Amino acid sequence: MEEVDPFSVVCDELTLIGNQIRCMVAVDEVPKLAAAAEYFFELGVEGKRLRPTVLLLMASALNGSLPGSVAANVSNELRRRQQLIAEITEMMHVATLLHDDVLDDADTRRGVPSVNYCMGNKLSVLAGDFLLSRALVALGSLNNTEIVILISTVLENLVTGEIMQMASTSEQRCSMDQYMKKTYNKTASLIANSCKSIALLAEKSNEVAVLCYDYGRNLGLAFQLTDDILDFTGTLASLGKPPLSDISHGIITAPILFAIEEFPQLRELVNKGFDDPVDVELALNYLRKSRGIQRATELAIEHANLAASAIESLPPSDDDNVRISRRALVNLTHIVITRTK
Ligand code: FPP
Ligand code: MG
Ligand code: MG
Repeated sequence: MEEVDPFSVVCDELTLIGNQIRCMVAVDEVPKLAAAAEYFFELGVEGKRLRPTVLLLMASALNGSLPGSVAANVSNELRRRQQLIAEITEMMHVATLLHDDVLDDADTRRGVPSVNYCMGNKLSVLAGDFLLSRALVALGSLNNTEIVILISTVLENLVTGEIMQMASTSEQRCSMDQYMKKTYNKTASLIANSCKSIALLAEKSNEVAVLCYDYGRNLGLAFQLTDDILDFTGTLASLGKPPLSDISHGIITAPILFAIEEFPQLRELVNKGFDDPVDVELALNYLRKSRGIQRATELAIEHANLAASAIESLPPSDDDNVRISRRALVNLTHIVITRTK
C-alpha cells in the first residue's frame, strides 16, 4: 500500500488553523501576556502540530463528501466545528507545556528558550491559564454539553497525571500499572477524547466514537512511550531539549521499569532518588545491559498497532478522501514510534 504523508494531506488546513489560533490567543491590552501566550504559536516554533493533524485527518476519515449544495454547506459547518476542536486541543496542549516547563524547571522547548526561562515562572503559569481560558470559551461556543464534559475530564486527567508523576512511594514509582495510568492521563487522554469529540460532532454511532477514542488513546500511549525512550536515546541536538531529563528529576519511565525486572538491584537506586549524578550513571549501566529500551519499544509498537486496527475497524467507505485520510492515520502510527525528536 502506497504511503501517505499525513502532514501534507492537511498542510493547507494546518496553516488555516495556525492563523485561527493566533487570532484566538491575541491580546492587545497586556503586551507581556501577549508575548508569553503567543510565543509557541509563532511561525517556526509551532512544533510538530501532531494533534491538529490527527484531528483533521480523523474528521476526513469519518465524513465522506456529500453530494448537493445543501449537504455541502452542512458539511462545511461541520468541518468548521471540527477544526475548532483541533484549535482547542492545540491551545490546551500549549497551555500544559507552559505549566509543565515551570514544574520541570525546563530552560528550552522546541529548540528555543522556554517561556519560564525568558519571562519567568509567574508569566508562564498565567499565560498557560490564559490559553486554557480562551480554549474553554471556544469550547463553550460549540454548544455541545457532552463534548464540554469530555474535555473537562481531560483537564482533570492532565492534572491527575502530573500529580501521579510526583508519586512518592516506591511501590507507586515502580509500578508499570501506575506508569500506564499516568501516561494515559498526562498524554493520551487529550488526543483520545478530542478524537472522540470529532466523531460526536459528526453524529457518528457510539461504536465509531469508541474506535476514534481507541485510536487516540493508543496513539497517545505509543507517542509517550517513544518520548520516554527518546529521553534515554536522544541528544540535545536531536531533541531540542536536554536528554536524561526524566531520570535526573527522579521520574521513572518504561525502560527503567522493564530493566528493574532483570536487575532488581536497580530498584534500590530508584528508591534513593537520582539527586546524585553518579546514581544516574549506575542506573544507565543497568539499563544498557538490560532489554529495557527494547521492551519499551515493543510496548510502543503494540499500542501503535492497536491504534492502526481501530482505524481499520471503521465502517468501510468507497470515498477517496476517507480512504486517503485513514491511510494517513495508520501511517501516523508508524511515524510516532520511529521519530527521533
Ligand atoms: C509534558 O510532559 C507535559 C504534559 C504532557 C502534561 C502537563 C500537564 C500539566 C502541567 C497539568 C496542568 C496544566 C493544565 C493547563 C491543565 P513531559 O514533561 O514528560 O515532556 P516534555 O519533555 O515535553 O517536557
Ligand atoms: Mg517537561
Ligand atoms: Mg513534565
